[in-house]
Amino acid sequence: MTVRQKLYEGKAKILYATDDPDVLVTYFKDDATAFNAQKRGSIEGKGAFNCAISSHLFKQLAASGIPTHFIAQTSVNEMQVRAVTILPLEVVVRNIAAGSLCQQTGLPLGTDLPQPLVEFYYKNDALGDPLLTDDRLQLLQLATPAQVEHLRAMALKINDLLKVFFAQCDITLVDFKLEFGFDRTQQLLLADEISPDTCRLWNQASDDPEQRVLDKDRFRHDLGNVESAYRQVMERVLKV
Ligand code: TMP
Repeated sequence: MTVRQKLYEGKAKILYATDDPDVLVTYFKDDATAFNAQKRGSIEGKGAFNCAISSHLFKQLAASGIPTHFIAQTSVNEMQVRAVTILPLEVVVRNIAAGSLCQQTGLPLGTDLPQPLVEFYYKNDALGDPLLTDDRLQLLQLATPAQVEHLRAMALKINDLLKVFFAQCDITLVDFKLEFGFDRTQQLLLADEISPDTCRLWNQASDDPEQRVLDKDRFRHDLGNVESAYRQVMERVLKV
């Protein structure tokens, strides 16, 4: 058996090289962290749930014209992806106020936003992934103004598609985080993952602020039943 070269190990995934320099393998781990890794744990089956959910969502988005790094799901915990140079940005889209938006603005949890809010964060653990302004994006040369506009437009289109998709699963898409990268031909591709680790997802069948949570907030805030929430998202997503 050939030993694969590990290129990078993050908090929730490992990236391996393949014989083709343009193709990598992402392995989804059960490890979970929150609050910039101050809280650590493991969610049994999370790797498999997130790999299946992400694969399905990337396929759906690709079918709607979104260029993504996804090639194929190759095992329970693994997907083949195109090699990209990841932009050091976390692009967050919010439909409903939750999380850091509530903490930083005082908006009550659950407030419907009049239009989707797109935010850029600096992907830098040492700095705690700070919120960026347009001027800071330019100052740090993280993206040109044209690239920022392109990212914003892609993020909004992805939000439109995912909102409709999750609604078919009786799930409300509250907010989510995206990452993008450039492939060897300088094409901008949606990358990383889309899963209950990176989205806030509320069960439409419940109004209870704790019961409705089907995402990593269950782990972040010790709400219990974390595995069953992830499993429920996978089962619903795979049916659509
Ligand atoms: P926030 O409210 O904590 O800023 O999170 C906004 C969205 O981004 C939420 O869906 C969770 C996701 N997210 C990540 O995927 N990774 C992170 O490191 C953080 C802080 C949030």
